[in-house]
Formats: sequence, C-alpha cells, structure tokens
Amino acid sequence: MYNNHFMMKNINITAKIQVCCYEELNSDEKNIIDIAKNAVKCSYSPYSQFRVGSAVLLANREIVVGSNQENIAYPSGLCAERTALFYANSQFPDEAVEAIAVAAYHEGNFVDEPVTPCGACRQVLLEVQNRYKHPIKVLLYGKKVIYKIENSADLLPLAFEF
Ligand code: THU
Repeated sequence: MYNNHFMMKNINITAKIQVCCYEELNSDEKNIIDIAKNAVKCSYSPYSQFRVGSAVLLANREIVVGSNQENIAYPSGLCAERTALFYANSQFPDEAVEAIAVAAYHEGNFVDEPVTPCGACRQVLLEVQNRYKHPIKVLLYGKKVIYKIENSADLLPLAFEF
C-alpha cells in the first residue's frame, strides 16, 4: 500500500501572516516595535554591518530587549531574537512570552521589507511557545510594511518535535 506510487499525494502547508502598517497595531504592539527599533543601537555587528534589535513582551508585562551580537568566530554570534528570548527565559523563567518584535537597520536606514527570523530562531521561538503553552505573536518591522504572525508555529512548518 505505502509504496504504491499511484497513492502519492501532496500536503499543502499554509501560514497566516498579516501584512499591516504601524497605525493598525495596538499600543502594546507599537510599543515593542519602538523598543526593538531602539535596540539596534546596542547591536554588535562589525562583520555584517547589519543591526538587528528585538523586544520581548512577557506575561508579567516586563519587556526584555536584545540585539544581534557577532563574533570573529562567526558561528559564535547570536541573533537578536535568541539574545532576547534566552535572556527573558533566564531572568523570568515563570513568565510566558506573549510577543516579540524585530527590527533591522542597514546602511543608515531601517529595512523597507521586514527581516524574518532564521531557522534556528524559529526553532527556539516554537520551543518557548510550547514550553509556556502560550502562542507567541511575532511582529517583523519594515518601513513599508509590518508582518504580524499571531502564532510562532506558522513560522516553522514541519518543525522538529518529538
Ligand atoms: N540576524 C538577526 O539577528 N536576526 C535575524 O532575524 C536575521 C539575522 C543577524 C545575524 C547576523 O548578526 C546579522 O543579522 C546578519 O547576518
């Protein structure tokens, strides 16, 4: 049955991503985007010259910021998202993560189109979401548009889970 080629079928995966602008966001969402934009100033990115800031809103209303931190041994660096998430979880291990905002700055400007998290950050986001059994909203800032993803699972179809 299983090796019968005539049984071959497709699985179509969809992801819900809202494309919106700053004015359409609520005050919490605007706030963490503003904080993520400000956090690019703390980026250490001499190798890529690509500054990324992030801000995490926790269930207790605490906001934790992060930025990408690079290293001459390239793989030793860390993205803004994981810097903020790991810091949040290490300082507030009992607080669910409600939302994360990400902003990127390059060559004197914030990027027009949002930067989306790398695969490793998506895996970490999903695990944090599962750990606290609470959906993590992801806000990706671009000057032209903002992407809003209500559930981090939408960023990582077919995630490694067991
Ligand atoms: N980077 C982030 O911090 N977050 C992202 O979502 C994309 C990429 C960093 C990694 C590296 O320091 C630089 O941006 C460009 O590769």
